[in-house]
Amino acid sequence: MLKVPYVTSYLTEHFGDDAFGTIEGYEAKGGYRAARRAITQMSPDEVVELVKESGLQGRGGAGFPTGMKWSFMPKETDGPKYLVCNADESEPGSFKDRILMERAPHLVIEGMLIAAWAIGASKSFIYVRGEYAYPAKQMMRAVQEAYDRGLLGRRLMHSDFNHDIVIQRGAGAYICGEETGLLESLEGKKGQPRKKPPFPAQFGAFGRPSTVNNVETFAHVPHIVSKGTDWFRSFGTEQSPGTTVFGVSGHVLRPGLFELPLGTPLQEIVFDHAGGPPEGRRVKGVIPGGMSMPILPAHQLDVPMANEFLRERKTMLGTGGVMVMDDTTCMVRVGELVSYFFRDESCGQCTQCREGTGWLHQILRRLERGAGAPDDLDILLDVAGSMEGQTICAFADAAAWPVQGLIRHFRSDFEEHIRQRKCPFPESFEL
Ligand SMILES: Cc1cc2nc3c(=O)[nH]c(=O)nc-3n(C[C@H](O)[C@H](O)[C@H](O)COP(=O)(O)O)c2cc1C
Ligand code: SF4
Repeated sequence: MLKVPYVTSYLTEHFGDDAFGTIEGYEAKGGYRAARRAITQMSPDEVVELVKESGLQGRGGAGFPTGMKWSFMPKETDGPKYLVCNADESEPGSFKDRILMERAPHLVIEGMLIAAWAIGASKSFIYVRGEYAYPAKQMMRAVQEAYDRGLLGRRLMHSDFNHDIVIQRGAGAYICGEETGLLESLEGKKGQPRKKPPFPAQFGAFGRPSTVNNVETFAHVPHIVSKGTDWFRSFGTEQSPGTTVFGVSGHVLRPGLFELPLGTPLQEIVFDHAGGPPEGRRVKGVIPGGMSMPILPAHQLDVPMANEFLRERKTMLGTGGVMVMDDTTCMVRVGELVSYFFRDESCGQCTQCREGTGWLHQILRRLERGAGAPDDLDILLDVAGSMEGQTICAFADAAAWPVQGLIRHFRSDFEEHIRQRKCPFPESFEL
């Protein structure tokens, strides 16, 4: 039984309809009307104001207000401005952007067109995760359809506006999801994040003013333009309006994607929508927003899934990738796995990150093998603490937070490994 009385799913409502992925099917449902309205009846500033008023927050992880980000773009420039769609989606536990690109590519393109008009961009780039072959193919097909219909290119929709979209495939590096690592990779260089400032609005793709937004962020925009800010704000919370597409994985009976208002309690997502853990098992912990977000213990699942509430529990919404772990799970093993990922994916520019991720993994590995010492927990917290807020990009924070969260809520798991000199969870997943 759903506890949320009625769940409207404006992003995902046509996902079951294959035709929605084609231009004919999309236009039949009113597609591209919002872009036409924005480009032919609204000034760029009016669009930016509308998105600001809607309260839309970016869905790429940091939750930055989208309208405000657009307003940072310089108005008059002596050269091109660019828009970038971040479709790298490499965060473990996150798979919403993939499905949006597969099932609703024109919704993403329409959102991009509106954004491009608002910031005055002549060209957009869609940077698609290397492993996402099918989503990239869907986006390429949809972009071509939009060109064929006069929705992209010169004097699109019979207006004075010109806009091109280029699709770029990544090569499988997590760090190319960080916006400046993405920009470097887009330019054909090593995907290493840039020092900020300057921010992309001043110095973005190819040194030109650029705005980077997530796939899902764009997908909300046509709905805001066509239905208005009051409608958008009727979903979610005061500070975090709208819905988001939660991707639930792990120990649940019905893993999948659930589009729900922001602020939906985590326990509703886990139990009512995803079916809870298998019979005879109890939930032990849940990562609320992709692997880099700190875990929550079972007794904190009452938290509403919006940043203003999650921050009070020392975690964040991230990408909305909900990862559920039942009582067979060894949290030290989780830490070992998570730290292995971050050790491998660090780009290596910053000492705290390059060395810190290796240290975290080494200590967690020996703890899991039963060779840990009593002061290992203090060393872990010390290393993690020295990685936070010290580096070129937030990757090092993202590597430190999960370890801190695991020790904060599951310290006894760590202590038992040291006391028993072995892993006390024989049924936990294999590494
Ligand atoms: C290590 C790291 C990885 C990231 N990966 C992604 C990603 O795969 N997709 C994404 O949209 N944002 C990712 N981000 C966030 C982007 O840097 C950027 O904030 C986001 O694309 C902005 O879009 P939004 O304002 O629409 O949320 C990542 C950030 C960091 C620090
Ligand atoms: S924090 Fe890590 S990933 Fe980010 S720039 Fe520094 S070394 Fe690279």
